[in-house]
Amino acid sequence: MKTTDENKPILQIRNVSKIYRGKGNLFRSPGKDVVALNRISLDIFKGEIFGLVGESGSGKTTAGRLVVSLEETTSGRIFMENREVTGLKGRSLKAFRRKVQMIFQDPYQSLNPQRSVYDTVSEPLKIHRMGNASERKAKVKEILKAVGLSPPDDFLFRYPHRLSGGQRQRVAIARAMVLNPEFVIADEPTSMLDASISAQIFNILLAMRKDLGVTQMFITHSLAAARYICDRIAVIYRGNLMELGPAEAVIQNPRHPYTQALIDAVPKFGHAKEAKLYGTLLAKRREAGKDKGCIFYPVCAVADDAICPRKKPGLTPLDDGRMVACFREGSDPEQTSFLPHVSNKGV
Ligand SMILES: Nc1ncnc2c1ncn2[C@@H]1O[C@H](COP(=O)(O)OP(=O)(O)OP(=O)(O)O)[C@@H](O)[C@H]1O
Ligand SMILES: [Mg+2]
Repeated sequence: MKTTDENKPILQIRNVSKIYRGKGNLFRSPGKDVVALNRISLDIFKGEIFGLVGESGSGKTTAGRLVVSLEETTSGRIFMENREVTGLKGRSLKAFRRKVQMIFQDPYQSLNPQRSVYDTVSEPLKIHRMGNASERKAKVKEILKAVGLSPPDDFLFRYPHRLSGGQRQRVAIARAMVLNPEFVIADEPTSMLDASISAQIFNILLAMRKDLGVTQMFITHSLAAARYICDRIAVIYRGNLMELGPAEAVIQNPRHPYTQALIDAVPKFGHAKEAKLYGTLLAKRREAGKDKGCIFYPVCAVADDAICPRKKPGLTPLDDGRMVACFREGSDPEQTSFLPHVSNKGV
């Protein structure tokens, strides 16, 4: 069978968990462990924009940090172009860092106030010893133009305090793009920006894919943003993967009660009184046994008391190409559940 670049996974996440160990101190007994990610598996294909969607604390940034190797998995493995990411060191880590970049949530914190736009954007070129001074300057100007900071000479020697939030995020994108990476993780790149500026940033990310073929993992809590920019999305809840599939299908016709609850939570324009389409979220949390059963069971209004509190549903393919972890949709119980999944923070 002929394979195209589009159906080659560039990133493979296999059974990845991340537990932050609760730290005690002299005055306090050890804190609780936090399961930030619980046995996540997914593939991202070359050239796609893949969305990771979930509410605050669901483990999105943790997933991004693991992929760029800023942190190590507790268990499970991550492969980028068939090479294992965890444990990279020395020269292979440096080569990896050239290919995979991350854009952070807050452009006010991610840029060094002491450094000019030129210093910030040219630094990765210096670290990787690419080009001489004039070649680097030409490359920085080209990339500033590409992210809409034009004419570039007006921006080269500005410092962050003389840039708007949107301009700062453009600088952060330019810095991530200057090494021609193959894979970029954009972690809520517009959560600090106005809607109109956000739309401009989304268009830059879309152009990065169209013109340069850059594969992206786009992290967001916003279904509207995910729908605008992503080809496929994964919905995570307290570190667990609930539903994965084409963005349009998942958002238009969600199958997991949690995804349905997310759709219900989106404010509907022109409706004074909130009409709930699905009504899958319980108003009051119910008691549930510890460490077993579906993670969503305590707040699920459509749960089956015979099975949902007892077993954890495995991620199961449906007939339309998506995957869902819900007994109501025919999931089988997950084979082994060696991790508790109750200690992530509250709903
Ligand atoms: N370094 C850390 N030490 C301990 N716990 C952590 C650490 N980093 C994250 N966590 C916890 O892991 C869980 C997942 O956090 P994460 O930042 O990945 O969520 P998120 O989905 O990115 O949230 P947000 O939308 O608020 O950015 C949270 O409960 C968080 O408190
Ligand atoms: Mg985050």
